[in-house]
Amino acid sequence: MNKPLTLLGNRCPETFLAEYWQKRPLLIRGALPGFTSPVSPEELAGLCCEPEVESRLVLEQAGPAPWTVEYGPIAENRFAQLPDTHWTLLVQECNRYVPELAELRDRFSFIPHWRIDDIMASYAPAQGSVGPHTDQYDVFLIQAHGTRRWQISTDPVSDDNFLPDIDLCIMREFTATEEWVLHPGDMLYLPPGVAHHGVALEDCITLSVGFRAPGYAELLSHFAEHVASRFDATQRYADPTLQRQQHPGEISHDALAQVRGILQKILSDDASIDQWFGEFITEAKNEHAAEETETLDEQRFLQTFAEKGRLYRNEQTRFAFIANNNTNNNALFIDGQHYPLPAELAFAAPLLCDEHQWSYAQLQKALAQPGFAKLLTTLYNQAYVYFI
Ligand code: SIN
Ligand code: CO
Repeated sequence: MNKPLTLLGNRCPETFLAEYWQKRPLLIRGALPGFTSPVSPEELAGLCCEPEVESRLVLEQAGPAPWTVEYGPIAENRFAQLPDTHWTLLVQECNRYVPELAELRDRFSFIPHWRIDDIMASYAPAQGSVGPHTDQYDVFLIQAHGTRRWQISTDPVSDDNFLPDIDLCIMREFTATEEWVLHPGDMLYLPPGVAHHGVALEDCITLSVGFRAPGYAELLSHFAEHVASRFDATQRYADPTLQRQQHPGEISHDALAQVRGILQKILSDDASIDQWFGEFITEAKNEHAAEETETLDEQRFLQTFAEKGRLYRNEQTRFAFIANNNTNNNALFIDGQHYPLPAELAFAAPLLCDEHQWSYAQLQKALAQPGFAKLLTTLYNQAYVYFI
């Protein structure tokens, strides 16, 4: 803890969180010294031809109208038809396909993992841009290749300051309050809502480490759907003590109190909200490609682990845990599944959720604990962890 990080311009994560996170932008020159892009323009072009990869091509000038968006998969021959300037290719969730990007994401572990969404990569030739806009999420914009000029505006953005009739949210008017040219290894942090405009000065790759912050509407509708499935048709409003009302047209205060009571009781069940949230927030964004792995029994698993020496977490899965301080029975959540851990296995939750890979030596002591090898074997057989 309290160790300065080059990534944060030699600030301690604690200082960054207190002074900048969700508060104000920060430019960090040389956040990743000597950084070279782990992904090439050709690899990005290849990825966006794949049907399971989420990608977009933004054409400022060469489309049927200014600021046209084409959604992936993009046809391979499309690239030969593109002009020399003024377009951007964006590929979502690149950390799933490029292991070095999964490692890069891990460098942001000073933010809880569940808040980290994905790493998007963009490639643009000179003048490529997605226009001035705001995002609803925090973002770290890492310059990976070439140079890009970033302009930002910390002025409030009015609801009607957007170009009409296009598929993108682009601001009609944008006046920069600050601007910088970012070189490879430089990084710009932006809190939600800060208007920004990045224009490639030459062939350029930018990586965006994006965050997730569920909206109130999403939380409520998802939780409501989850709890609703637990009730059966007999559980409903009832009024065996009904008294005759003076006004049959009135909804009485007694009826309203009963309705409020039903809803308040559901929403005051902390344990069920906590468990639902663990499941909800670790749910896989997309279906995983089914991995062909051989099912191992506990003994074979241990043997293989000892031989291979290292176990890796599947980059496509989300792990998180909730510490139960009262009973010491931690709850482990993986891809929307709840794994209750008994007190003797409670230690496994932070061990599995904080790291993305484990050496055999690191886990050897833990493997002697009853139940831990069985848990790891189960996770292996479900393709949540793997060997290389
Ligand atoms: C880009 O990489 O061109 C756009 C990233 C962003 O503005 O969020
Ligand atoms: Co943006």
